[in-house]
Amino acid sequence: MNEIQLELKNQLEKYRLQKIEPHMEHDDETETFRMEIFQELGALGFTGMTLPEEFGGMGLSYEDFSIALSEIAKSSVSYAVTISVSCMVQAIINEFGDLNQKKKYLPALTAGTEIGAFCLSESGAGSDAAALATTAKKTKGGYILNGSKIWITSGGIAKTYIVMARTGAEGGKGVSAFIVRDGTEGFSYGKKEKKMGWRISPTRELLFHNCFIPEENLLTNEGDGFKIAMSALEKGRFTIGAIAVGCSERALDESVSYALGRQQFKQAIFDFQGLQFMMADMATEIECSRLLVQQAARDYDQGTPNAKLACMAKLKATDTAMKVTTDAVQILGGVGYTREYPVERFMRDAKVLQIVEGTNQIQRVVIARNLKKEYTKH
Ligand code: CAA
Repeated sequence: MNEIQLELKNQLEKYRLQKIEPHMEHDDETETFRMEIFQELGALGFTGMTLPEEFGGMGLSYEDFSIALSEIAKSSVSYAVTISVSCMVQAIINEFGDLNQKKKYLPALTAGTEIGAFCLSESGAGSDAAALATTAKKTKGGYILNGSKIWITSGGIAKTYIVMARTGAEGGKGVSAFIVRDGTEGFSYGKKEKKMGWRISPTRELLFHNCFIPEENLLTNEGDGFKIAMSALEKGRFTIGAIAVGCSERALDESVSYALGRQQFKQAIFDFQGLQFMMADMATEIECSRLLVQQAARDYDQGTPNAKLACMAKLKATDTAMKVTTDAVQILGGVGYTREYPVERFMRDAKVLQIVEGTNQIQRVVIARNLKKEYTKH
């Protein structure tokens, strides 16, 4: 880690221990999202890290951002994910928006006074995202949206939504991307999901009924929506990997500390080789995950994004988070299964990391497609 990265990490560690950690047990139980935490993280610069300073960002790299997300996830996977998705929205507007769209929507998002949400999934279009059925029909001065979106992270608390909708024929080429604001007539919220984990981060259905969106809210051109979504997910995938690394690190911290302190058969349980091997494997897998995430982020920062590596980073880091958090519960035994210790929360939070931003089966599909391309090039 360079000096800036160390400073970011230390600053975030201090903040999360003082301001996030004390609320976690209660807020997970009651499904409470605290906007003030998001805003404070914004005031510290952590809600717009990768955006240029011109739009209120910190102009930092995705490698720096990944380190920050891992650190936040050590206390709260939910707040890390809220930031990661909101930053994905910022990246879309920054990359594909025109100057007016950037000036209008980016400053509040980078400052953390507002949250962004990414809206692709539908009940009939999850892994097969290009099959989405929400329509955007051209009308005078804009488009009329009809349909619904599900599983939307930050649904209801976000103000700016990037909504993928069909303006043309079947498949990816008929999809366009729109900026939709909370409060737009014809746009409402459906049910809030009751989830196993990520209980602090609200997940909601979005409903569009004859919802008029002005032409100026279309991102680039009609038909570009699927590519916009895919290129955003490419970054999203390794940032989810970074969150998984933080989640795993916390589970390892809890395991080692507990095993060193807990006595059975007149010795610390850490001294049993069976548990030492478990913790050695946990640490090794976490290190592999961190290095993959770091390399995927570096490739992106150096202008050579690598979709295969981004998927590998997501796959490895999130499968590791599931394994490591499950092992942490095992090491803590009975108390690990109770809410007395946080490992059961991290285990519940890890599960969905294997599902969001493309299931780990979809990551394998993309990795395999890239392998086929590489091997059939000549
Ligand atoms: N960048 C730019 N363009 C890309 C791209 C990328 N990374 N990946 C693909 N494309 C382009 C392709 O080049 C292709 O363009 P052409 O037709 O011009 O060649 C087009 O997009 C279609 O690509 P595919 O043929 O590969 O499309 P497909 O229908 O076979 O689907 C898929 C591919 C990988 C399965 C894709 O549907 C997918 O990723 N599915 C999973 C969906 C997903 O990740 N959902 C996440 C929901 S969001 C979320 O979870 C966020 C949250 O809130 C936490």
